[in-house]
Amino acid sequence: MVNGRAGKFTKLRKLLQMTVSCQPTDTRSLVPVAVRTLPAGEHLPVDVYRRTEEGQAILLLAKDRPLRSKDIDQLLMRGVDAVYVAADEAGRLREWFIEKIVRDESRVPAARFALLRDAMKRPFHEAFRHNSVDRIVPVCHDFGTGLTDIVRGSGVRFTDLSSAMANDASCFTHATNVATCSLLLATEMGTGGRRELAAIAQGALLHDFGKRLVQNKPPQERSPGGRANRDAIREHPTRGFQALCRRADFPWDALMMVYQHHERHDGNGYPVGLAGREIHPWARMCAIVNGFDGFRRHRSNQAPLDENTILAQLDCETGKRFDEELMQCWKSVVTRKR
Ligand SMILES: [Fe+2]
Ligand SMILES: [Fe+2]
Repeated sequence: MVNGRAGKFTKLRKLLQMTVSCQPTDTRSLVPVAVRTLPAGEHLPVDVYRRTEEGQAILLLAKDRPLRSKDIDQLLMRGVDAVYVAADEAGRLREWFIEKIVRDESRVPAARFALLRDAMKRPFHEAFRHNSVDRIVPVCHDFGTGLTDIVRGSGVRFTDLSSAMANDASCFTHATNVATCSLLLATEMGTGGRRELAAIAQGALLHDFGKRLVQNKPPQERSPGGRANRDAIREHPTRGFQALCRRADFPWDALMMVYQHHERHDGNGYPVGLAGREIHPWARMCAIVNGFDGFRRHRSNQAPLDENTILAQLDCETGKRFDEELMQCWKSVVTRKR
């Protein structure tokens, strides 16, 4: 018997003229893709599904069939803002997306940046929601590679990308901004290798991964008293390090960004209290752009700070919290007009 919902899906498939087959799939093996990031006119390299409330997935678009802009419009008109692909094919779709869309230099850097960010938002959140290191590391590898390809483009400046950067309080926005700014700073410091830059982006994207693990600790496992939250949050570099340190696909230098980004130049940071050049250079870069984005983030009931004001505030901490040479470099990145 065809019930109302099944009938609606049949109608939708017919309307979209995408496929004639219906293939139930276990939704636990699916990952979401934002409909708005699907490129019209392209032949996607993977099957695309629509998920039902009953835990079934219905094939919407078989791989290598063309995706039309009116199909995307129809989905959005029906309130469908996400479709799904098999988890074991998600990496292939991300690689294809980066190759096809992100490296398309006919688009301006800000547009490519926004497309990549919007495409990565759902997989990133999904991996964080499951606290899954196995999921988040490949997502950040591909995301970091895409960001690297945008920032390495000839003549890309901070001002080209800053207008497209969000400043809301989400962990995804913060991770994206810290990664983008880390790449700009690393490029300014003369790091030119794509592989090295992609590793920097990967470390920056996951620099606060441990916060998620701390926040998920049961209350009885947290420190007692009013210092509980502060003490818990100071654990996040160590928790992130522990979660990522045994992975062969997460570079050691990137791991140092996770572990040392709250160390301070004067030795008063955490978790160890390293000072000056004892701190890994990538972690010193991460500390500066992390502080910069902290000021840039949305502040309730307050007007956003302009970049010169933020730089002036950060500069007060040069030599105490931040490495002087790197801070000078970051100031020239942010203030460069051409
Ligand atoms: Fe942090
Ligand atoms: Fe952070």
